[in-house]
Amino acid sequence: MRKQIAAANWKMNMTFQQGEKLLDDILGVDIHLKEHQQVIFAVPFPYLLMTRSEVEDEFNYEVAAQNCYHKKSGAYTGEVSADMLHSTGVNYCIVGHSERREYFAETNAMLADKVNLCLENFITPIFCCGEALSIREANTQNDFVAQQLKESLFHLSAKQIKGIIVAYEPIWAIGTGKTATTGQAQEMHAHLRSVLAGQYGADVANEIPILYGGSVKANNAKELFSCPDVDGGLVGGASLVATDFVEIIKALK
Ligand code: PGA
Repeated sequence: MRKQIAAANWKMNMTFQQGEKLLDDILGVDIHLKEHQQVIFAVPFPYLLMTRSEVEDEFNYEVAAQNCYHKKSGAYTGEVSADMLHSTGVNYCIVGHSERREYFAETNAMLADKVNLCLENFITPIFCCGEALSIREANTQNDFVAQQLKESLFHLSAKQIKGIIVAYEPIWAIGTGKTATTGQAQEMHAHLRSVLAGQYGADVANEIPILYGGSVKANNAKELFSCPDVDGGLVGGASLVATDFVEIIKALK
């Protein structure tokens, strides 16, 4: 079975102490993940080491950075490289979240560089794609997301792409409380998988987890995750509430 993943994206929320308590509350609940299930906490940079030590003894719990820079090293004050993340034991990194694309002008080409640097440093990118409302209204979302994959991922070999997690996050559903319907989610995830299959073949495409993100909540996770091509979620707001995130973890296939 493909990996099923509940990934928490804290964004720029929580003090260190609040973050520690949240992790304690979540990890204090006895959830035995199955072999194919995984929980990933994408936390702010200063909390990565604390989070890593919190999950150290937990089976299939992992830590992710929310971003890394698209250059190897050098005079880029305030930035963090993939190599630095690797050297602190971080194995996952969100790449191309729509908030980064929008507020920090990240382009598909820059994201291709980030993906490369992550892979060179043994970090699994959680690559985000997804369309704005205007694109959905014009019904051009399928071409739009295909182009995002093409420009940021399709230079990779089949072996490399198997080391990627894709997250489909329709921008109109992020933080809005407006979730894609299961029909919309499944349709887009199947489309993404077929785009990946077109480039790399069905066997490779079938191995790549595709997460859904955008107002995943405790009360809709089960339904969303039940879609055959939805392999879990990238969760913002609801990952900040222990009881809610625990329910979301339990909703994994
Ligand atoms: P949300 O955020 O769950 O608060 O909509 C999801 C995300 O941006 O990853």
